[in-house]
Amino acid sequence: MSRRPLIAGNWKMNCLKAEGVALAEGIAAKLRAQAPAADLLVCPPATVVDSVARAVAGSRLAVGGQDCHADKSGAHTGDIAAPMLKDLGASYVIVGHSERRADHGESDAVVRAKATAAHAAGLIAIICIGETEVERDGGRTLEVVGGQFEGSLPNGATPDNTVIAYEPVWAIGTGRTPTTPEVAEVHGAIRALAAKRLGTAGSARLRILYGGSMKPSNAKELLALEDVDGGLIGGASLKVDDFWAIAQSC
Ligand code: 13P
Repeated sequence: MSRRPLIAGNWKMNCLKAEGVALAEGIAAKLRAQAPAADLLVCPPATVVDSVARAVAGSRLAVGGQDCHADKSGAHTGDIAAPMLKDLGASYVIVGHSERRADHGESDAVVRAKATAAHAAGLIAIICIGETEVERDGGRTLEVVGGQFEGSLPNGATPDNTVIAYEPVWAIGTGRTPTTPEVAEVHGAIRALAAKRLGTAGSARLRILYGGSMKPSNAKELLALEDVDGGLIGGASLKVDDFWAIAQSC
């Protein structure tokens, strides 16, 4: 399989500068000693991207943002543009995380515009999609996830500038995960939809991450699935040893 896994840490709204730098330096030090069979990425809060990027410059640890605005500049108080993240040394940005969709009312169209902005700035967009518990219980998972994929993927998306993260909302921060057949079903469905947009060869190269309560104890089983090409990790990405153990599971 030609897809190199991506293990990405989403630090969410955690870490002051010193904590963030120590965490990133801890991971970079592990990477210097040993190269896992995966690309590693940390996405700190925007306030710490600069310090973290400086601390890990020259290492194999990539740095990303957690969100960006759809415009490249302008009158958007408090927002952060994709070129600003790029300017600080970021190479990725997460867009459409369910917490942003819920907390900030982001629609698929908004997420698609943000991904387009990320691409224009030369960033790789990690586009998040996933169903709520009510949607899963109602048997609507594939419909919801498929709709979000179709609506959030910009026309310019390629396997080189885009990563998909499947994150069931009910699995985030809860310690619960779907069963491996459930994860395999959704990832397979996303890859089938991707073939229509990116072609069969493009779809075969697209990285589709799983996110939601991934931890050292379940990572190996999830990452072993054919269409799971890495993880987007929240809580467990805040500890060097847990994040590293997940990376080692690839
Ligand atoms: P947890 O790993 O804490 O469940 O968070 C997952 C997530 O939302 C990553 O984006």
